[in-house]
Amino acid sequence: MLLRTFPGGPLKGEIRPPGDKSISHRALILGSLAHGQTHLRGLLEAEDVSRTAQCLGEMGVSIRLSGAEVIVEGRGEAGLAAPRRILEAGNSGTTLRLLMGVVAAHPFQATFAGDASLSRRPMDRVALPLRQMGARVQGEGARCSPPVTVRGGDLVGIHYEMPVASAQVKSAILLAGLRAKGRTSLKEPGLSRDHTERMLQAFGASPEWGPGFAAVIGGRPLQARHLAVPGDFSSAAFFIVGAALLEGSEVEIAEVGLNPTRTGLLDVLKEMRANFEVHQSGGKDRGGEREELVGRLVVRYAGRLRGTEIGKGLIPRVIDEIPIICIAAACAEGQSVIRGAEELRVKESDRISSMAQLLKELGADVEELPDGLVIQGAKALKRARIESHGDHRVAMAAAVAGLVSEGVEVDGAECISTSYPGFAADLARLGAQVQVTA
Ligand code: S3P
Repeated sequence: MLLRTFPGGPLKGEIRPPGDKSISHRALILGSLAHGQTHLRGLLEAEDVSRTAQCLGEMGVSIRLSGAEVIVEGRGEAGLAAPRRILEAGNSGTTLRLLMGVVAAHPFQATFAGDASLSRRPMDRVALPLRQMGARVQGEGARCSPPVTVRGGDLVGIHYEMPVASAQVKSAILLAGLRAKGRTSLKEPGLSRDHTERMLQAFGASPEWGPGFAAVIGGRPLQARHLAVPGDFSSAAFFIVGAALLEGSEVEIAEVGLNPTRTGLLDVLKEMRANFEVHQSGGKDRGGEREELVGRLVVRYAGRLRGTEIGKGLIPRVIDEIPIICIAAACAEGQSVIRGAEELRVKESDRISSMAQLLKELGADVEELPDGLVIQGAKALKRARIESHGDHRVAMAAAVAGLVSEGVEVDGAECISTSYPGFAADLARLGAQVQVTA
């Protein structure tokens, strides 16, 4: 699929981003492990989340649509059945890593496979702690890449010091810990998203957590819940940056998740002198301070942005927003430096190299570093044909770049449907000129 965007703007109007991808995966998983019927509103309808639903279906969970709700029939903490087929995770690292933790807690064997991109990604970061807990995990090569086979059961709680900050690794350990003997605790070297901890709390598992640590006690039952999934901040990010870059823009983002472990982009944009307002409506006032925060954002164009520096400490809070931050940096006055972001090399594509290549095609001044990028901004960006590298966030960042350059053609744009099938339509609804060809 070819997605074309043309120069111009402004972006104007209101958007309700699709359901949060991270929260949607977790809601399906915890609903499956709970006692009773979980009702979910606003669940993301996109390929990655469908993969999680299908894998859970292969393990005996009934998940069905009823009006605007998705209903999950919980099977209890150890109630999943051995799958008869290979579990296909597609492009979704979250499906694979979180479900490795779930299978580790069950007395059966399951094999997971992925697409070409996922099959290159490292699973040793999950295999290592799960093996320490007592599971058997086997994958391809030194980094335990897919296909991965997990044989679970009889786990013991461990304390694990994670070498990288990763919500997927943390979540896999906590999910396995739900059925392990005793306490499972972990420390991580950064502040990764805490959706699993918040949702475990909502389902009654009483986790403990704080900046850089989390713990669960094994054997506590999970109780089914009714949950509303907030809009995905990472999907909204493309419109937030688009509005900050295009003269005359005013975009309102409604019902978007504002969990502080996800909103590092707002800190970055503030530093770059963007103009936005945040109106928080959920969480603390609604259901307690450990629930997900939700709110409304209004972004207005306020002149050219200024270059910025992003260091290691901030990276986990902007991990999925670096591609679109690169576009903001290419348009900003002065130099921007992104460091400590080596994790980007093992995402859906090598995002450091994908973004360096994309910016070069646009005629921007960019230097690729082992752990980041240096971008000299405010050079006029030319017309370019961009390769998505099968990476949804690279493709969407390229589409926004088309609005602030002489136009972009994104090749391989079908990957956008892993997280945001309605992206092109929503961008057009805000006033961008967009063309899609099969
Ligand atoms: C995710 C965690 C992050 C993020 C990914 C979703 C999650 O990955 O990049 O898009 O839902 O837990 P890492 O855990 O590898 O940092």
